[in-house]
Amino acid sequence: MKFIFTLIILLLFSWSEVVASTVNLEKGWKFKAGDNLTWAKPDVDDSKWESISTGQSWESQGHENYDGFGWYRIRMVIPSSLKESAYLKDSLQFILGKVDDDDQFYLNGVFIGQNNSKHQTSDSAFRNGNGFYLPERKYTISTNHPDILWDKENIIAVRIFDQGGGGGMYAGIPSISMADISQYLVIDKRADFYKFEGNYIKKTFVVRNTSNVVLNGNLSIAVKLEESRKEISIADSDIDLKSGEIKEFPVSFDVSNEPTKVQFTFKHRDSNLIINDVDESPYILTPKLSETPAINGARVVGVRPNKIFLFTIPATGLCPITFDAKGLPDGLILDKKTGIITGKVAKQGEYKVTLTAKNIKGEASNILTIKVGTQIMLTPPMGWNSWNCWGLSVDEEKVLQSAKIFKEKGLINHGWTYINIDDGWQAGRNADGEIVPNKNFTHVRTLSDSLHQMGLKFGIYSSPGPLTCGGYTGSYRHEIQDAKTYAKWGVDYLKYDWCSYATIAKDRSLPELMKPYLLMNKGLMQNDRDIVYSLCQYGMGDVWKWGAGIGGNLWRTTGDIGDMWEALSAIGFSQTQNADYAGPGHWNDPDMLTVGWVGWGPNLHPSRLTANEQYTHISLWCLLSAPLLIGCDVSRLDDFTLNLLTNDEVIAIDQDPLGKQAIPVYKSGNIQIWLKELEDGSKAIGIFNLGADPEKVTVHLSDLGFKGVHTIRDIWQQKDIGEFKGTYETTVSNHGVKFLKLTAK
Ligand code: GAL
Repeated sequence: MKFIFTLIILLLFSWSEVVASTVNLEKGWKFKAGDNLTWAKPDVDDSKWESISTGQSWESQGHENYDGFGWYRIRMVIPSSLKESAYLKDSLQFILGKVDDDDQFYLNGVFIGQNNSKHQTSDSAFRNGNGFYLPERKYTISTNHPDILWDKENIIAVRIFDQGGGGGMYAGIPSISMADISQYLVIDKRADFYKFEGNYIKKTFVVRNTSNVVLNGNLSIAVKLEESRKEISIADSDIDLKSGEIKEFPVSFDVSNEPTKVQFTFKHRDSNLIINDVDESPYILTPKLSETPAINGARVVGVRPNKIFLFTIPATGLCPITFDAKGLPDGLILDKKTGIITGKVAKQGEYKVTLTAKNIKGEASNILTIKVGTQIMLTPPMGWNSWNCWGLSVDEEKVLQSAKIFKEKGLINHGWTYINIDDGWQAGRNADGEIVPNKNFTHVRTLSDSLHQMGLKFGIYSSPGPLTCGGYTGSYRHEIQDAKTYAKWGVDYLKYDWCSYATIAKDRSLPELMKPYLLMNKGLMQNDRDIVYSLCQYGMGDVWKWGAGIGGNLWRTTGDIGDMWEALSAIGFSQTQNADYAGPGHWNDPDMLTVGWVGWGPNLHPSRLTANEQYTHISLWCLLSAPLLIGCDVSRLDDFTLNLLTNDEVIAIDQDPLGKQAIPVYKSGNIQIWLKELEDGSKAIGIFNLGADPEKVTVHLSDLGFKGVHTIRDIWQQKDIGEFKGTYETTVSNHGVKFLKLTAK
């Protein structure tokens, strides 16, 4: 009895603790679509507003397809016990969860702050930057703020602007709490980035006291290797940081070939509070390149009769390498020094060409099938696009530099071919109506010639609307003329982006969605060169069902990607219903890669994806037979990013001639297994862990259709793991992947 009584007291005590430290605002929200700044005021009668959940978008709560403004309101008491029980008593924080897209936050009618765009123009138009719907919204105010009504009813009003897609407060649990030490002792993981020096990897972490008081305690930093369970202690020191003070912690350790974490533990001396934090460091799986020659990349290539052909044999090995190609169709010639094959073939047919690459260490040969017919782009395009790095600040020098780096760093030797300018190159039209480049591009034809001489191909961007998404001149009413101009400039690839065509289309019916794309296709088909046709309209009208029929070689299936796990995983793991529509000549495009230094503008930062997430990104895209377009500044490729982009066995999965798209064959909890059938009868699988902690996985091979004994090969590490029958066990790191190839014995 005494025990039960004590238990009740304890429970009550801990319950009051919970109540005292957080006010949960999950329930009680009211919503109204539209916009009126007076809705911020406390005395607004919101009794007739509808009730809404903050855990899902307003679209899923009766406001389908609604984009634009909406207001959320909630009434709640802010107890003074929150402040009284806190160690630090100066700030109160309002956590709203995630908001799609922009928000303004009002307390009792007073504007407190907003999370929206750098492009903000006026109060009634607040727009955001890329991926802005992802971060959690938190507003912190002083506990002395005159508008907090302690122990009385307060009213929060949130004004939201949704640009498109889902809208509103859509994820996370809104709450009010006091800001504690963990908010003020900031372990800044992005003040520096990992640098590779020989076999070492280095980074400096900055610890910052942003509170008004001295923070003292013990900080330990350890590097943990996940699979071998090794732990290296880096630092264990007492720190005493004055308000505003910072301390640097340089960290250096051996580059590893398994998931590696830098773990921080801070013990606050006065409150005994413990702050844990972790940073994931890059690790390298791709083995060093051999000096003996290897021929990589696509094994099948398509060209239309009498259209310009350009193919560079992607080969690695000690230079110089000399090339040979036996069985080339009439009209094509090989430059034996560069491995570049050029010309035109008149006769339709399938030509099996034996390619050879030779150096002092040895020789490699491979069959390349050249299909002269109606289809091009028989494997997904591989290249670079300016958007995810330079955004609208792209210029000729950056494009040319990327091409040079493709050569210097050897990307071209792994099959990376296209150098594509995205939005931001156009100035307007000349007197003849011809599109002209802006001052950042001197002469487009000269640029494309330089790329072609290097054995690379050249891509460009436009919109069927009057303006592109970036506000530059689009092709509207000049479609055929633009197609001709592109051919004159030597363009090999066009990304054609819906953008302002939204204002031209009568509605979103299929004929209206197809119309502008059909028109440009007509122009492209009149040219003397093949131009890969990339449709970009974010998946509208299930484009995968009709994209190929109107001449598309690839089509975007979703909105824009960002360099965050939420964006990557939401896009990557939802590519299921379109799988049957991918194949040689026509591919689903889940958007460009966000590894390396990205930024969508002049200022770049290292991808916010962790190393595990970047392995997941590349593995999943290869399984999906997705176009691989590098979106980073290639002049800043480090060892880790190069390892991601130059693993020939990984790339071979993407470029497999069968052209199948992977499908999910197993889903349970955080684990998903995706399987792709390959031309040689073997299968590639990705075992993905979408959870926040490493997980042990037992794969029941026969459930996935693998009967009998199979050899399992680790694709990233390019080594056989062994022969398995029945089950295969492994551990998959948080947000990570095991990328395997299974071949029947
Ligand atoms: C978006 C497109 C991006 C990029 C951008 C340029 O619509 O999805 O990939 O091309 O426009 O403004």
